[in-house]
Amino acid sequence: MSEVLLEVKNLHKRFPIKGGILGREVAAVNAVNNVSFTINKGETLGLVGESGCGKTTLGRSLLRLIEPTSGQVIFGGKDITAMDANEMRAMRRKMQIIFQDPYASLNPRMTIGNILAEPLEIHKLFRGKEERKKRLFELLDQVQMPKDSLNKYPHEFSGGQRQRICIARALAVQPEFIVCDEPVSALDVSVQAQVVNLLMDLQKDLGLTYLFIAHDLKVVEYISKTVAVMYLGNIIEMASAAELYGNAKHPYTKALFSAIPIPDPARKSERILLEGDIPSPMNPPRGCHFHPRCWKCTEECKGEFPSVSSLSETHNFRCYNPLEKGE
Ligand SMILES: Nc1ncnc2c1ncn2[C@@H]1O[C@H](COP(=O)(O)OP(=O)(O)OP(=O)(O)O)[C@@H](O)[C@H]1O
Ligand SMILES: [Mg+2]
Repeated sequence: MSEVLLEVKNLHKRFPIKGGILGREVAAVNAVNNVSFTINKGETLGLVGESGCGKTTLGRSLLRLIEPTSGQVIFGGKDITAMDANEMRAMRRKMQIIFQDPYASLNPRMTIGNILAEPLEIHKLFRGKEERKKRLFELLDQVQMPKDSLNKYPHEFSGGQRQRICIARALAVQPEFIVCDEPVSALDVSVQAQVVNLLMDLQKDLGLTYLFIAHDLKVVEYISKTVAVMYLGNIIEMASAAELYGNAKHPYTKALFSAIPIPDPARKSERILLEGDIPSPMNPPRGCHFHPRCWKCTEECKGEFPSVSSLSETHNFRCYNPLEKGE
């Protein structure tokens, strides 16, 4: 039996939008809406969806870098949403995040040695100079960077190398779980594969668990055991990548995945072009948020938001008119 590391229950994040001279709340964005899922230890959950659908907000809420409005995040059996600042500080060691932009996330005035030593110092993870140096070399080795990187500055490295340094910094505290927020989107295609492969090797060697956020569905398919599809704050379908390609139930999933060119002629698919823009997250349509763009929409879809239906233990979706296989 696989062991659950992270369980998210009915997570909600609402950003109030203030306006006017009194700074009153004039509107709100429900960036994450009633989201629930689990991730097993050592596995990767991919998270996909159009820009602005709430992926980053969800990822950051899991670490409480953004304070969730309601709901629970249970990590290793402990509800971290109920923790005070002290308990949370200890918890941060176990949960790390890697960002999209390796240029912006490294302090240009610090050497790589000091960047990597910072988390070790904060969490008091070494004794004496020798142990510090040994640990820094170990970290560089884990991300396949040369030893002489320690005295250099971020600008002396390429994008892919900087992302490796960001990964090493996340690894410094020996985390169990890492949110990877589009970690390869800013890199050249040739470098993307190297960084993704590095993340997968590290997962195998260190038993890491990932939430992997990405725009590129091919990358997500490659790295993830399960993929969650988000639309305007809600997870509307969740299954293995292969299942989402071959047997999508939600029309939005089908449209999203049909946009990927498939090199394998045995897996032919017709490209579905969605009509209309993504609705404003401040004022999403009633019922299923996707209904104004959906070709299967009926009256029911305009009423209440659909509840979760399960096709199997590992495949569930929220849709009143799910697609038939091959439809
Ligand atoms: N601090 C904030 N205040 C108000 N609204 C916010 C804030 N942060 C995010 N939002 C809104 O929440 C929604 C979700 O944003 P988020 O950045 O999580 O999307 P995303 O899926 O990560 O997008 P992208 O793919 O572009 O990174 C958007 O409508 C965004 O405008
Ligand atoms: Mg984002």
